[in-house]
Amino acid sequence: MDVYEVGPRDGLQNELRIVPLEGKLRLIAALVEAGERRIEATSFVSPRWIPQLSDAEEVLKSLPRVPGVTYSALVPNLRGLERARAAGLGEAAVFISASETHSKKNINKSIAEALSVAGDVTHGALAAGMRVRAYLSVVWGCPYEGTVAVDRVVDLCRRLADMGIYQLSLGDTVGVGVPNQTEEILEAVSRHVPVEKLALHLHDTRGLALANALVGLSAGVTTFDASIGGLGGCPYAPGAAGNLATEDVVNMLHRMGVETGIDLGKLVEAGEVAQELIGRKLSGKFLQAALGERDRAQARRRTVPAH
Ligand code: HMG
Ligand code: MG
Repeated sequence: MDVYEVGPRDGLQNELRIVPLEGKLRLIAALVEAGERRIEATSFVSPRWIPQLSDAEEVLKSLPRVPGVTYSALVPNLRGLERARAAGLGEAAVFISASETHSKKNINKSIAEALSVAGDVTHGALAAGMRVRAYLSVVWGCPYEGTVAVDRVVDLCRRLADMGIYQLSLGDTVGVGVPNQTEEILEAVSRHVPVEKLALHLHDTRGLALANALVGLSAGVTTFDASIGGLGGCPYAPGAAGNLATEDVVNMLHRMGVETGIDLGKLVEAGEVAQELIGRKLSGKFLQAALGERDRAQARRRTVPAH
């Protein structure tokens, strides 16, 4: 089972505090140390739109090169592709929205314009020898337009899949999805795009990300996007909270006998690094439970009288 880590990108893009380059590299090194193999490290988007990730070139050039570890980054347009190529990116992620208003707010383009640009970026990235993944956002609902028709989602998924991407990640950008809806969406999309090509990108705004992931697992989805400690959101989708926490989904999978190759104890250490960098407690349930247990054990040791 694959976990695709988006904390350094989706997480840090939404933090008010700008994490300096060394902090980003420390976080990514801790994620690699925990056994994560697919990490979205940054974005080649406009630094005016996302100042938090304006050091994309430096991040990419300084990443630890470890056999088996793939780094990816968001690429919004050909200008972004040019930057990504110059920085040596191996995997590009293109992204479009399933609602017109979110598309306009997020990338200043209509859906039709965004599809055309994503097509050009995919074509250019493949020609440059990169792998390409695509995101479709606001599939479960849009903060501006509400419910999104499943037919429209299916149509956009087919168009993205036809571009030659290796994986399509379905985004519940503002975490409004419920399990029966997830079942309906996966059923409809997988009639046209093989389920093996799908990933789920679930935000945990209303606490249902893990429940939706479980539905995905039963439907045959083998990749879950997640962010360490539940970092994250989307600055152009008000109300979007962090992603499904990496430790929460890894814990669930391991306890169900599904291996990920990730060390849960070391993920907790990476979660502590993330908390330190952003200066607040993260929302990940497993992370807080593990840190709480550790603190209580330390307090007990301190209160045992010496003989
Ligand atoms: P625009 O203002 O319409 O761009 O933004 P433009 O093409 O008119 O260019 C304006 C200026 O920006 C020009 O510079 C360009 O060179 C520059 P000037 O001539 O004025 O000096 N520019 C760039 N600079 C650096 N890198 C670039 C780039 N492109 C243009 N790539 C644009 C259009 C797409 C660039 C902008 O809207 C943008 O960057 N948006 C990204 C917003 C974003 O990152 N949102 C969050 C990520 S999506 C998300 O989180 C959802 C996801 O997690 C899945 C889910 O949860 O559903 C993926
Ligand atoms: Mg997201």
